[in-house]
Amino acid sequence: MPVVADLDLPSLDPADPDLRGERFHRALADLAGQSWLARTPLGVIVFDRTVSLEMLRDRRLSFPAVELIELQGITEGPVYERVVNGLLAQTGEAHGRLRRLLTPAFTPAAVERLRPRIRGHVEAMWAEVAEDGRCDFVTAFARRLPSMVIADLLGVPGEDDRMASYSEHLQGIFDPALLAQRSALESVYLDAYRWIEALVEARRRQPGDDLASALVAAEAEGERLTHDECVSLIASVISGGTDTTQAQMAHGMRLFCQHPDQWQLLAEDPTLAAAAANEVIRFEPITPFTARLVRDDTTYRGVGFPAGTVLFLCSAAANRDPAIFTEPDTFDITAARPAGAVLTFGNGPHFCPGAHLARAELTELYGCLAPRMGEPALRSEPVLGAPIGIYPVESLDIGFSARRT
Ligand code: HEM
Repeated sequence: MPVVADLDLPSLDPADPDLRGERFHRALADLAGQSWLARTPLGVIVFDRTVSLEMLRDRRLSFPAVELIELQGITEGPVYERVVNGLLAQTGEAHGRLRRLLTPAFTPAAVERLRPRIRGHVEAMWAEVAEDGRCDFVTAFARRLPSMVIADLLGVPGEDDRMASYSEHLQGIFDPALLAQRSALESVYLDAYRWIEALVEARRRQPGDDLASALVAAEAEGERLTHDECVSLIASVISGGTDTTQAQMAHGMRLFCQHPDQWQLLAEDPTLAAAAANEVIRFEPITPFTARLVRDDTTYRGVGFPAGTVLFLCSAAANRDPAIFTEPDTFDITAARPAGAVLTFGNGPHFCPGAHLARAELTELYGCLAPRMGEPALRSEPVLGAPIGIYPVESLDIGFSARRT
């Protein structure tokens, strides 16, 4: 049986600045046409959707959070400790226990309660730019809304600037540019943890109707979260729920500018908003690769993957699998697409607990804007970051007209 290292595979470097937007997808399609595997500087890309799903669900594989920061040169200190104790780094029963305590606090009902507030935020942001006829969509909407929602979720409305700063620094451990200023990063990191500890203490004394209170009270099968686990989970929610949703919102708006007929359809029928959000999540997943580490030698599709192999399961390719999605390369908000079939939120034990919230935010954002914002168009080329980890949009300069509503 061949071992992955012995195979003659095509290669891709996602850091290549030429690989952005449609060129990135063309490169993926080209490689996927040659083989179901490809090499990257850090590991092996898997294009095959069925195998990717199997790997995501395989409990013998783990999320290499610790290994990825070790590759960045962080092997001790407060940041290292927190990653080691963070949710993504956990495996097996330790991870299962935390998930059992976390997920009841993330119920669809809790998300539904937030919808009117999400819509209110979008309306207020629209009012700020409607008369201008142009904005940088990233600074005017995408960078602000997810932090506002996380602040609402935690029961600290108005603390969105703090959430944005904490999220940037908590995520910064995976960003070589931010890591270069390691001491500044660590100091914000410690500040974030002190603030979350104080929040947990306050909710213990006086519970409210929010995620922080629900976590403090979380109990499953007679087990409770410890103080440290509570703090760590809240940090995971802040870091997991901000940059991700922000990037997805901005990529979606870019797609609508490039497909004005789709925006017009949504403007005429805002009940399409949930389908529009789903199509954005499918067509341009901001987590184009989800990482896994092989812990014990395994075999997939007749190829051996030795322990220590780092895998990047390519949701960007899986979400365009023609066996599941008809005309997969067409951005079409009216097409019948099975929402649960996209791999953007991962799958298996680490499946994104914020998926329902992220969908709600995208739905409210586009559903509220489309009837108000006429003819959005790109005023300059969007500035896109590297599709590694989170695929960011640095800026999105758009022009539009204000419709009468
Ligand atoms: C469009 C927005 C989002 C995308 C694309 C996204 C994507 C992902 C992915 C790919 C994973 C890893 C899944 C796996 O390895 O199988 C993940 C995990 C996670 N996400 Fe999200 N996410 C988004 C929004 C959110 C939000 C809004 C929250 C919280 C409010 C959140 C919190 C988390 C947490 C805590 C984890 C770790 C779960 C675990 O290790 O068990 N995410 N997300």
